[in-house]
Amino acid sequence: MRKAEYPLVPLLELTPDQTKIFTLPRGKGEVALALHNGKVYAFGSLCPHQNASLQDAPIEKGCVVCRRHGYRFDLK
Ligand code: FES
Repeated sequence: MRKAEYPLVPLLELTPDQTKIFTLPRGKGEVALALHNGKVYAFGSLCPHQNASLQDAPIEKGCVVCRRHGYRFDLK
C-alpha cells in the first residue's frame, strides 16, 4: 500500500456517517471520505460492483452502503 498525505478538507465539512467525494490535488483522481465514530476513513470513490459513485452513501453499522444496488462494504 502506498502512503501519501494530502491536505484535503476541514473535518467540519464531513457529515458523520455519510460519504463525501473530494478531488485530489495534482490530478491524482478522487477519494471518498467518511467520518464514522470519530475516525476518518478514505477509500475509492466508485463502487467496486458496477462503478456507481459513492457520493453521499450512508454508513450503516460500520459499512458503506452503495445507493445503486445496496451492496455493503465494511470500513475496516
Ligand atoms: S454499483 Fe454499487 S452495488 Fe452495484
